Amino acid sequence: MLELVDSSSASCRSEYRVRRLENLNYYWVKPIGILNLRLNEKIHIFIDGKEIECFEGEILLWVALDQGIYIPNLCALRERREPFGGCRLCFVEVEGEDFPVTACTKKVKEGMVVQTKGERALRLSRTAFELILSNHPVDCAHCLKSGSCELQRMAKHLKVKLNTKRFKKILRDLPIDETSPLLTYDPNKCVLCGKCVWLCQEKYQIGAIGFAYRGFQRWVTTFNNEPIGGSECRDLVELITICPVGAFVGKQKGAEK
Ligand code: SF4
Ligand code: FES
Repeated sequence: MLELVDSSSASCRSEYRVRRLENLNYYWVKPIGILNLRLNEKIHIFIDGKEIECFEGEILLWVALDQGIYIPNLCALRERREPFGGCRLCFVEVEGEDFPVTACTKKVKEGMVVQTKGERALRLSRTAFELILSNHPVDCAHCLKSGSCELQRMAKHLKVKLNTKRFKKILRDLPIDETSPLLTYDPNKCVLCGKCVWLCQEKYQIGAIGFAYRGFQRWVTTFNNEPIGGSECRDLVELITICPVGAFVGKQKGAEK
């Protein structure tokens, strides 16, 4: 694998594109401001007993998902240079490690042995999931994301009911924003994964939406809580697809699939 190392400062917005031509171990690279390139070794690891060939230093979460091995995740994005690591859902057990680790921050090494269904890892993931559900309005029958919602997939995988009562339910009552011509934003359904913020701030460098406040009050909003429809994000249909739950949904049928 070609690892792109940009040692410039965080404020330097260098861009790059890498395309791997499968089976040829050949890469087309179009760099703008890349300072170092390093060729990584092919290695073998084991996930749930399955031997997998990958490249040293790849992120364990993507290696597993690419092999069809599901690990719950909400905040991870392949394009992100540094993992966000905020949702705490992607725990796995790695042989030799004392505690479960987050797969989105773990780099693979030769001979690594990973269990995605270890009891300790599942317990942590379930707790994180049930905490998210404790302030998520579960109303799948009326939610446009139903069927493609990541929470539904996770509930099935973790064997947790969406209407779990393990933690006291505390719902927010924030205004639903219908001001964009293309999308509806319901902050009450937001799980604070940060993907939309990354899209707006990092990918498109618009900066119209971001996190505001702390703790239970934390939510994604615009500067001064102005309506989305008046912001530069109003036409960003990618918000609909990047949002893993029903917080951003399209006004046109099927937009969120
Ligand atoms: S609105 Fe959606 S994408 Fe944005 S932080 Fe909330 S859940 Fe994540
Ligand atoms: S996907 Fe790993 S912490 Fe969110």
